[in-house]
Amino acid sequence: MRTERAAAALLTVMTALACRQDMHNQNKMKPYRSARFFEDGQGSRLPVADTVARGQLRENQLFYTGQTADGEMVAEIPMPVTRQVLERGQQRFNIYCAPCHGRTGEGQGMVVRRGYKRPTSLHDPRLVASPAGYFYDVMTNGFSVMPSYASQITPEDRWAIVAYLRALQLSQGARFADLPAEDRQAIEHPAPPPANAAAPEHAAEGH
Ligand code: HEC
Repeated sequence: MRTERAAAALLTVMTALACRQDMHNQNKMKPYRSARFFEDGQGSRLPVADTVARGQLRENQLFYTGQTADGEMVAEIPMPVTRQVLERGQQRFNIYCAPCHGRTGEGQGMVVRRGYKRPTSLHDPRLVASPAGYFYDVMTNGFSVMPSYASQITPEDRWAIVAYLRALQLSQGARFADLPAEDRQAIEHPAPPPANAAAPEHAAEGH
C-alpha cells in the first residue's frame, strides 16, 4: 500500500515536471490573426515583390505562353520534338484529351457519348491550319465549355500533346507522296508472298 502511494506521488511529480510551457508562451504570428508588429496590422504577410519560387522563373515567354511578345501565336513547337516527346504526348493525350476528343481526335470520346458537348474534330481544316501555339493556348486557358488543363498538365507536357496532335492530324490527312521512299516502293511493288503462305490451312480451322 505504501509503495503504491509512493509510486502515485512520484508519477504526479514527474508528470507535472514534464509539462513545461517554455516556447509555447511567446509572441508569435497565427494564420489570419491580426498583429501589431506590422503597420497594416496583419499577421499574414505577402511575399516580397518579385519573389520567384524555386523552379518557377518562367523567363521563356514563348515556351510558357505559346505567344510571341506581340501576342502572336507561335507557329511551331518551341522545343525539339523527339520520338520520346511524341510518345509522352500520345500517353498524355489519351489520358487527358481522349475522354472527350476520342483517341483519333474526331470528337467522339466517352464523355461526349454520354452527353457532353461534341468538340470540333481536331482534323477540321481550320484546326489543321491553326498554329501550334493555339493548341497550347486552348489547353492552358480552356476554350468555351472546355476547362483549362494548366493545373494538371505541365507546360512541357502540353507541348508534347501538341506534337502528338500534329502526328494525329498527319495520320488522317497524309498523302502518298509524304511516305518515305521505301514505304512507297513497298506499296507500289509488293513483294510476292512466300510460297507456303498461300496454302489454305484447313487443319487449323478444325473442319
Ligand atoms: C471534358 C471534355 C474535354 C476534354 C477532356 C478536353 N476537351 Fe478540348 N474541347 C472540349 C469541347 C466540348 C470543345 C468545344 C468547345 C466549344 O466549341 O464550345 C473543345 C475544344 C477543343 C479545341 C478546339 C478549339 C476550337 O477552336 O474549336 C481544341 C484544340 C481542344 N479542345 C484541345 C483539347 C486538348 C489538347 C485536350 C487535352 C489536354 C482537351 N481538348 C481536353 C472538351 C474537352
